[in-house]
Amino acid sequence: MMRKFLTVAALVLAIGTASAAGISSKHASLGLKAEPAAAQCLACHGGWTALAAATKGVSPNPHANHMGKVQCNACHSWNGESRLMCADCHSFPKLEKGLRGK
Ligand code: HEC
Ligand code: HEC
Ligand code: HEC
Repeated sequence: MMRKFLTVAALVLAIGTASAAGISSKHASLGLKAEPAAAQCLACHGGWTALAAATKGVSPNPHANHMGKVQCNACHSWNGESRLMCADCHSFPKLEKGLRGK
């Protein structure tokens, strides 16, 4: 019971501190009308190999792991709060922090 309560409290805290802007603001100057499809994200960001290289210093690498090629918006939100999908099964606070900083 107590454990459940603490989990809910931690979740509320995490949501409260997360940026709600999403990554659309990072793309404001590019004239995109709506959230691009993953294929477009990949075209601009150089593909999975380039993404894996960009975050090779992050452990575990969010772009190269046992989950394979995950949809970008499973983690990066265009207009809402980005959320690390790995958190369904793991706790990777550094990745969550890095994700929210983007
Ligand atoms: C038309 C090209 C283009 C498309 C399409 C695009 N991006 Fe970007 N993205 C950029 C540019 C340019 C920047 C700013 C420079 C940079 O940090 O790479 C950027 C920035 C970012 C950042 C922040 C990087 C940082 O270090 O702060 C993330 C995350 C990101 N894009 C993810 C995505 C995702 C996910 C999609 C698809 C939903 C997407 N992008 C679609 C060109 C694009
Ligand atoms: C499993 C979650 C996850 C998925 C799926 C994911 N990302 Fe990321 N991405 C992250 C995290 C976490 C970071 C921040 C890493 C850090 O701390 O620097 C990041 C960082 C980035 C960056 C910035 C890289 C840099 O130079 O620092 C870009 C660009 C990006 N992601 C684009 C994408 C695109 C495009 C897709 C889909 C093809 C995608 N991501 C899929 C979690 C994810
Ligand atoms: C559906 C649940 C689930 C999700 C989602 C998930 N994992 Fe895992 N992960 C596992 C399981 C199960 C193991 C194996 C645990 C063991 O045998 O100790 C594992 C193991 C790992 C390991 C240990 C080394 C390895 O490769 O076996 C790492 C690192 C890891 N996961 C990273 C990630 C990352 C990063 C994400 C998000 C992109 C993610 N996981 C998403 C279930 C999951």
